[in-house]
Amino acid sequence: MKVAIPKERRAGERRVAASPETVKKLKALGLDVAVESGAGAGASFPDQHYADAGAVIETDPRALLVDADIVLKVQRPQIGGEGDLDELALLKTGALLIGTLSPHGAPDSLKAYAAAGVTAFAMEFVPRITRAQSMDVLSSQSNLAGYRAVLDAAHEFGRAFPMMMTAAGTVPPARCLIMGVGVAGLQAIATARRLGAIVSATDVRPAVKEQVQSLGATFVAVEDDEFKQAESKGGYAKEMSPEYRAKQAALITETIKKQDIVITTALIPGRKAPILVSADMVASMKPGAVIIDLAVEQGGNVEGVQPGLVVTTPGGVKIVGHLNVPSRIAVDASALYARNLLSLLQLLIDKKTGAVSIPWTDEIVKGIALTRDGRIIHPAFASTPAEAAPSTPPATNTERGHNP
Ligand code: NAI
Repeated sequence: MKVAIPKERRAGERRVAASPETVKKLKALGLDVAVESGAGAGASFPDQHYADAGAVIETDPRALLVDADIVLKVQRPQIGGEGDLDELALLKTGALLIGTLSPHGAPDSLKAYAAAGVTAFAMEFVPRITRAQSMDVLSSQSNLAGYRAVLDAAHEFGRAFPMMMTAAGTVPPARCLIMGVGVAGLQAIATARRLGAIVSATDVRPAVKEQVQSLGATFVAVEDDEFKQAESKGGYAKEMSPEYRAKQAALITETIKKQDIVITTALIPGRKAPILVSADMVASMKPGAVIIDLAVEQGGNVEGVQPGLVVTTPGGVKIVGHLNVPSRIAVDASALYARNLLSLLQLLIDKKTGAVSIPWTDEIVKGIALTRDGRIIHPAFASTPAEAAPSTPPATNTERGHNP
């Protein structure tokens, strides 16, 4: 069985779907591994390290892909006229394509996978069950994004984070507010605390309060009856009522004026990100304050954020809208993503024969499988019930369909 790891071709993507470490382990599973020359360059993995781990280095992407049984990607392949190469057109019928395929962001690509006869698995749909933790790309990538967001804030900020008492006078500590305390938010709190900031955090899920406090930060939230029921069964946030959002906005208006740094990470699966910071709130902040909006790819939490840009408002507040933040820490993000894929492949490969043997009734496979045998089988995307495979289960995992 041949596993192919192509270079990522989408703009701004520096990550890669395998590391020399995981190549060695894929080989140990009995797989032949081929890596496109230069695929690891953005993540500081030279071709030679992959070759030393047992991979064949392929310079021609066509030769790499046409006979691959399994294709490992970070982002979805280019299709049709996208970019310099139609990657999907090169895949053989029956090939297994695994990546963060962004099914909600690019629903038409599912039709293309089905038409090409490709079996497509979306890593962002791995269910958040204990057994699948090692495959959870949303966690592995969001954790690093939360860390990187604080460093990006420190980079844009013209002052220090920690309090410093020097002979020339005292430097006050920075005040940092984290809005949305999922995986990224928790790491942002921990990182900002390590840098010496005074940190507070807000979220609509009550379970978060204790986690925030255990990291040494202050919890800021409207704790009414709606708040007490704001967590879905899957552990995600629900969309809040207009009344709650008004109360939340009043509290944040008071809090935000005093902040030097605001990092927003708030998402609601399958929906546009909620606006948490209005233009008036931004205008109330001090000159030199920095806002990092990690939700920018889902529409943004901050009014005035521009995807991919750092905007300075007339009041001197910087609003940072970096895209694909995990790619800004590409070495670790690639290493962890590659391990997530390796864990999944351990479930999909028959250890005795080294052949692909997909356990179609496994909860994890049911969660991530988009297409099979020329059809869209994921219940969230199969347009009519007749299109769904007979064995397809009810939507166990549809509410978490957002991208990392
Ligand atoms: P996410 O990326 O979907 O959202 C980020 C945060 O934004 C969440 O904490 C959410 O409550 C918050 N948020 C949404 N609307 C908001 C609003 N209006 N105001 C303030 N905050 C708002 O979250 P993520 O990081 O994917 O985590 C979701 C849940 O999954 C958490 O409970 C987390 O602990 C859990 N989880 C479970 C895992 C497992 O069991 N294997 C692994 C990783 C996370």
